[in-house]
Amino acid sequence: MRMIKWQNGTVLTPDQTKLPLQEVTLEIKTVEQMAEAIKTLRIRGAPLLGAAAGFGLAIAAYNSQATTPPQLIAELEAAGIVIKHQRPTAVNLFWGVDRVLNKVKSTQGTLEELKAATILEAQLIADEDAAQNHAIGKNGSVLIDDGDTILTHCNAGELATVEYGTALGVIRAAWEQGKKIKVIADETRPLLQGARLTVYELKRDGIPVTLITDNMAAYIMKKGLVNKVIVGADRIVQDAVFNKIGTYGVAVLAHEHNIPFYVAAPKSTFDLTSKADDITIEERNSDEVTHVGCQQTAPNNIAVYNPAFDATPLKYVSAIICETQIYYPQDYQTFKTKQQ
Ligand code: MRU
Repeated sequence: MRMIKWQNGTVLTPDQTKLPLQEVTLEIKTVEQMAEAIKTLRIRGAPLLGAAAGFGLAIAAYNSQATTPPQLIAELEAAGIVIKHQRPTAVNLFWGVDRVLNKVKSTQGTLEELKAATILEAQLIADEDAAQNHAIGKNGSVLIDDGDTILTHCNAGELATVEYGTALGVIRAAWEQGKKIKVIADETRPLLQGARLTVYELKRDGIPVTLITDNMAAYIMKKGLVNKVIVGADRIVQDAVFNKIGTYGVAVLAHEHNIPFYVAAPKSTFDLTSKADDITIEERNSDEVTHVGCQQTAPNNIAVYNPAFDATPLKYVSAIICETQIYYPQDYQTFKTKQQ
């Protein structure tokens, strides 16, 4: 199912803050609405953010009152700055803006042709992401065996992408091949992407899933109740994988218990010009920690630290599955020397 669609100047996408209790479709018609949806995680997940970034520029082009191509490009650049400003860690947001801007700037044509090129490039990003996730699923499914119980953290599913998912794409592909697998989903405090989104989509698809709180992972690994871990990524740099806060802990635990730890992500999530120390980790509002949903659970005026992501060093990563291949630890050296 497509998670983001372009319909005559309007972007249609589920409001992920309402799931799983309400299924509400957002109708985004302005760059400001797109920026708000990204900031508040109504739209979330690195690959979906890449597509949303592209569609944000498509909206800017569609609504533009520019009378010349340079004016249009200036408006698109301004929209790109607004979109990039919303969240700092997932590289796909930046990649999506830059890809569309580069396409428009390299297109020779009339104003209308440039507008059409903007919208077409955004649609191409979405179409390609959908196809890439199916390829990731197929590639990664060779790592999944009949009878596996697989732990995942956060939501790297259909909802985090244009279609099918990355980590959950691998799980879906294995399931579609008839492998009898089970999933354990970390709830993923503070915003509960695991509890709200991952179990929602797996349950809907009939894939057996059990929800745990984040602090149960060590215990279930020790008891032998999980034999593989697979997560998505928000940015893969030369020496680390950035993903939802808590991923690093899960990776260290998997290492300690000799459980393979796999990462699934498209190449649009690779940022091989950077190292872990170069990357800004988003820090979010303290309310996300002092409250569960709308319910306050901590005293007033308490100091809070709320980083949204962490970096898992590559030494803990058993393989990285992308749309073209699986990278194993012996391949990671190439990350330091070339842009993939
Ligand atoms: O803050 P979010 O919900 O946008 O973060 C998304 C994640 O970190 C997911 O874990 C995911 O693996 C990356 S997107 C497939």
